[in-house]
Amino acid sequence: MAQSQASPLRTAIVGAGMIGRVHLDAVRRSGAPVAGISASTPARAKEAAAALGVERAFDSSEELVTSDDVDVVHICTPNDLHAPLAELALRAGKHVVCEKPLTTAPATADALAALAAASGSVAAVPFVYRYHPMAAEARSRVLDGRAGDVRLLHGHYLQDWLSEPGDTNWRVDQGAGGPSRAFADIGSHWCDLVEWVTGHRISELTAVSSTVDRDGGRPATEDAVQLLLRTDRGAIGSVTVSQISPGRKNRLWFEVDGSRTSLAFDQENPESLFVGSRGENAAVLRDPATLSPAAARLSVLPGGHPMGYLDCFAAFVRDVHAAIRGEGPADAFPSFADAARMVRLTDAVLRSAADRTWKEVA
Ligand SMILES: NC(=O)c1ccc[n+]([C@@H]2O[C@H](COP(=O)([O-])OP(=O)(O)OC[C@H]3O[C@@H](n4cnc5c(N)ncnc54)[C@H](O)[C@@H]3O)[C@@H](O)[C@H]2O)c1
Repeated sequence: MAQSQASPLRTAIVGAGMIGRVHLDAVRRSGAPVAGISASTPARAKEAAAALGVERAFDSSEELVTSDDVDVVHICTPNDLHAPLAELALRAGKHVVCEKPLTTAPATADALAALAAASGSVAAVPFVYRYHPMAAEARSRVLDGRAGDVRLLHGHYLQDWLSEPGDTNWRVDQGAGGPSRAFADIGSHWCDLVEWVTGHRISELTAVSSTVDRDGGRPATEDAVQLLLRTDRGAIGSVTVSQISPGRKNRLWFEVDGSRTSLAFDQENPESLFVGSRGENAAVLRDPATLSPAAARLSVLPGGHPMGYLDCFAAFVRDVHAAIRGEGPADAFPSFADAARMVRLTDAVLRSAADRTWKEVA
């Protein structure tokens, strides 16, 4: 249901952790009023509201997502709460931005995507690396044929914050985090981004995974995955996903090798795109004057004024708001259906790692 230009999009944030604050910043940059925030307890919600300058602390997240004073809900909690809160919000007629993974089980993800499609609400998931201008430039160069036929996809997504035996987080716990950790948490970002850049879909995969012994010896989810893949359009690929790679903070890197050029993008150095050819190689710098229209649209600062992660979130929220107002293309942002696909892909990774066979991705 499109909302008129005049009415403000009253937005509320569920969860005041790392990413809740990033969402809050993006909403504020959009000019939308922040109607409230919730946290794990009423006291924490009050603390967060005071610290972040938000007027209203909701006593519970259920109250927030059904409140008459809220139009758009951002769900930024641990993974196991995404599905129940998103469902409640959709049934209450809210537009929903829900963090990834959309759910911790494939059946719930498909049901939620179907509910979102039937609801008429805008329902989006922040696979925000799509909003880096130079990632969008790579996509334009694949779609307009400058890269040629895509033959090979490869790369990695590496972090180090769980590399010590004593490192822990709710994500390590299967209850709060779900059956997959490293892959659901960051591998899904890599796969979403590379599928979006190339227009290919990963159709078959085989995976091996590794889990570190952690203090306490509790059962934990996987720390690292190596994946081999085929796409529906005949390309092959591989990716390494790890949260135990010392020194690597948030190293999302991919390369797409086409029959004419190769394109490589590094999320930690997002101001340029490597364009390789049999002749000269180039590092194409972000400059709205020279980029493809789809990349220039996201390039809100002149070249030489570095853009980054927070700008991706701001652009994502702009697209979500445009869709709510019926102004932008409804599919400009990553949808619940896209996120449900990543949940299915994650499930295929776990099944393949368990029985050491190739799996098709529905
Ligand atoms: N899209 C991205 O780039 C990106 C990046 C980081 C995290 N995430 C996702 O965001 C989610 C949160 O991750 P994070 O890094 O912010 O974790 P975090 O641990 O920093 O924050 C989670 C917050 O949720 C709160 N919380 C727990 N139960 C709650 C409840 N019932 N109601 C409201 N709040 C509750 C916790 O108190 C905590 O403050 C995860 O699902 C994660 O996968 C996405």
